[in-house]
Amino acid sequence: KGPMAFTVAIDGPAAAGKGTIARAVAAHFGFAYLDTGLLYRAVGAKVTEGADPLEAAQALRAEDLNAEGLRTQAVAEAASRVAVNPQVRAALVDFQRAFAARAGGAVLDGRDIGTVICPEAQAKLFVTASPEVRAERRYLELVEGGHEATREAVLDDVKARDARDSERATAPLRPADDAVVIDTSEMSIKEAVAAAIGAVEARGAKA
Ligand code: DC
Repeated sequence: KGPMAFTVAIDGPAAAGKGTIARAVAAHFGFAYLDTGLLYRAVGAKVTEGADPLEAAQALRAEDLNAEGLRTQAVAEAASRVAVNPQVRAALVDFQRAFAARAGGAVLDGRDIGTVICPEAQAKLFVTASPEVRAERRYLELVEGGHEATREAVLDDVKARDARDSERATAPLRPADDAVVIDTSEMSIKEAVAAAIGAVEARGAKA
């Protein structure tokens, strides 16, 4: 018998530190990592180029997640828009579940991993931070990356995306009942990663 599948579901709003934490947890336990936001971003990018959302979702392949330009604000916005479409979401379920079930363990981060994609996940984390803290982190990232931004505009973007992700009818952003909530507002990256690893260990994962 091979190694057991162990799934870590990490959900939370944009810019809360999910990606950093998910990558660190995956590296610590030797698990594979999937950033599920990339699926919605890849579909959003195709739609911006004129594709039909459902066709783009159905045709999505693993290679598409490596496409250039998926990290821009414009693509994030397009992703958040296609993500309200229940048919688009349904078309992306199998890919995510197959990844979660891989032998050797998997970490998936997104908005609905613990609630919809992997309700049976052995460990569920909900990583969050105040909108102001998330906007400030995103603002500093943009400025460091040489982009023009204002704090006010970034905070408006964060709030608009939160509202769309939380208020949609299908698979809205919310913590699963059995998720461990980690509020990173007052934590360093190191502290947040340690809290996440501790919570996953407490659910039985071994490094
Ligand atoms: O995590 P991210 O910023 O890359 O996600 C981009 C958008 O995709 C986000 O605004 C909502 C959507 N998304 C989703 O609906 N469900 C997921 N599991 C991941 C992302």
